Amino acid sequence: MEKFKDMNGGVVILSFQENAFEKSARHVLVICKYLGKWLLTKHRVRGLEFPGGKMEKGETLEGAARREVMEETGAVLSRLVSIGEYQVSDKEDTFVKRIYYGEVEKIMPQDDYMETGGPVLVSGDILVERMRDEYSFIMKDDVIKHSLEFLSKKH
Ligand code: GTP
Repeated sequence: MEKFKDMNGGVVILSFQENAFEKSARHVLVICKYLGKWLLTKHRVRGLEFPGGKMEKGETLEGAARREVMEETGAVLSRLVSIGEYQVSDKEDTFVKRIYYGEVEKIMPQDDYMETGGPVLVSGDILVERMRDEYSFIMKDDVIKHSLEFLSKKH
């Protein structure tokens, strides 16, 4: 387990095992790849980040991951694998997010991207790119660094 602070002062604990926390995951973050590029969305407030969000009633986490990716980028995923979880605690709340790795089969343009700016493809070194101003703070902590390192070893 790794523990660190995010850029909002929230405490983040990361584990590459499932169900590592007392609370079960109800949020998802999906690290998406399409034809060798990273697929991100532009959150209306935070900026560029991997797609994700909250599970809805009656939905599985995997279902939430596929839905959020479709809503925020128009992408259909072929392979979807769970790689770990992290817990975020700020002044108000504690929640757990499941991290998935998703391989994109196709991107279908949508009329509406659910309050995000839609798909953004990024080539090059995302570990360097993510520190730019237009990126969301959730891309800048060690969740992304450790997850990408984990993926480069396993996938
Ligand atoms: P939407 O704006 O509807 O997409 O929701 P959200 O993603 O902001 O989720 P939520 O409202 O549950 O977030 C609660 C708090 O946690 C906010 O301050 C978010 O900025 C923060 N937060 C959300 N996701 C992450 C994350 O992946 N990492 C970190 N460190 N903080 C997060």
